[in-house]
Amino acid sequence: MKIAAGTTVQALQAGLPLDPLENRILLCHALGLTRVGLITNSERVLNEEEAVQLDALLARRLGGEPIAYIVGQREFFGLPFQVSPAVLIPRPDTELIVELVLERLARIRSTARLLDMGTGSGAIAVAVAHTRPDASVTALDVSEAALAVARANAARNGAQVRFLRSDWFAALEDETFDLIASNPPYIAAGDTHLAQGDLRFEPSGALTDFADGFSALRTIIGGAPAHLVAGGWLLLEHGYDQAAAVRALLLDAGYTEVQSWRDLSGIERVSGGRRG
Ligand SMILES: C[S@@+](CC[C@H](N)C(=O)[O-])C[C@H]1O[C@@H](n2cnc3c(N)ncnc32)[C@H](O)[C@@H]1O
Repeated sequence: MKIAAGTTVQALQAGLPLDPLENRILLCHALGLTRVGLITNSERVLNEEEAVQLDALLARRLGGEPIAYIVGQREFFGLPFQVSPAVLIPRPDTELIVELVLERLARIRSTARLLDMGTGSGAIAVAVAHTRPDASVTALDVSEAALAVARANAARNGAQVRFLRSDWFAALEDETFDLIASNPPYIAAGDTHLAQGDLRFEPSGALTDFADGFSALRTIIGGAPAHLVAGGWLLLEHGYDQAAAVRALLLDAGYTEVQSWRDLSGIERVSGGRRG
């Protein structure tokens, strides 16, 4: 499809070959308009420069690139997050672990300490710190490029988060937390999903453990007790078919109150337990 100068915003809203939400996101980004601005500027016509730019953006989307990377932003937990190919695009499913963390923080009287492992864009840590500014939130990632995005997201959303570059627990010494949350890479090497949709464009080190899908989960389950207070919670997001295996790993490692929680699609998406 070739977009011509002189086309009206209204015609583009009806005519781009994208679903209506993506169509709106792309037009707002390309024309520097808000959602409301798109409506009030419906008669506006594109100039040559805007038509060329929109054409290029549309070609990227039709080539499969995620809309969030094209516009550099995704909303998560009602907050705007900057995203780049250095980070996983935050998923709505991950709001479940944020809610579970917030429920547990509400029961802690003193300043609650949360650790978010593999923070990526900072989604979990920033959402929690924004909602509970009185909590002490630490977030780590092995990727310096991801941490730069996460720091920008904390600043943008006015969230106080301490960021650490760390290979899982390596940089933590003997520090302890009331809660540890993580959405680690859990897709097995060679899984066909890695070659499909948005995943083709996301950092492979955020998606797969390059093994059986459980190696990061095992490392976190094995290492967390040394960094949790007695009774502290470990909450882990995992794949749609991994809940029973993750519960078994948690039970084997001596956690109590081991359970799983379902996401909005009814899939067991988060499992966790307490340090015994
Ligand atoms: C599935 S992404 C989750 C990102 C973010 N927490 C979210 O939920 O949107 C997993 C993250 O774990 C990080 N990661 C992978 N291996 C790691 C390691 N050895 N130590 C620390 N972080 C790691 C990746 O860089 C990536 O940002």
